[in-house]
Amino acid sequence: MTQDEMKKAAGWAALEYVPAGSIIGVGTGSTVNHFIDALATIKDQIKGAVSSSEASSARLKELGIPLFDLNEIEDFAVYVDGADEIDPSMAMIKGGGAALTREKIVAAVAQRFVCIVDGTKTVEVMGQFPLPVEVIPMAREYVARELTKLGGKPVYREGVVTDNGNHILDVHELSIIAPKKLETQINAIVGVVTNGLFAERGADVLLIGTPDGVKTRKC
Ligand code: A5P
Repeated sequence: MTQDEMKKAAGWAALEYVPAGSIIGVGTGSTVNHFIDALATIKDQIKGAVSSSEASSARLKELGIPLFDLNEIEDFAVYVDGADEIDPSMAMIKGGGAALTREKIVAAVAQRFVCIVDGTKTVEVMGQFPLPVEVIPMAREYVARELTKLGGKPVYREGVVTDNGNHILDVHELSIIAPKKLETQINAIVGVVTNGLFAERGADVLLIGTPDGVKTRKC
């Protein structure tokens, strides 16, 4: 089974968590693209979606799924998104696709976070995947120096501008044993917009695509 087939299995399995007649929070990435394709097959049974990126909005629109502005909604039941790494406490690293800020905002409003991954994304300790940090462009070098003090090796993701007009630093060589603490510490650096640790708001349900079928973990 290829990695993409495992992503597809997880993406389609998330349909089970979509309540009829509701608005669905939709994340970003190749696994979520499979979920969007699945969602399109039941589009007549949902109200629509609130999206976390321009890329997902374009795909949702193309498939005829109505889009809602987050400011028009008080709350909604489910947010479905992928992850770059997820640990046993259901904390995640996200942002490989540079959509971390909007993802964190949409996830914050949802009652439930359903994370969809292929079997390569589950880890004991996060940090092998470089941690993305979205920064205000003029603060980039200052933030990089502060991240170095925290023990990481930040690398500027050259050529990438986020949907919010900001830059991304990918922080290598972190061993993230206390994700909530690190999430708070990085957020406290002036110039940081968001960091890709989703620990304060981790996943509630995890669907893992594997060659032996989709495995489920719940918080
Ligand atoms: C997007 O910014 C990310 O948070 C994605 O959710 C994450 O990178 C997973 O992406 P894939 O599903 O493409 O592996």
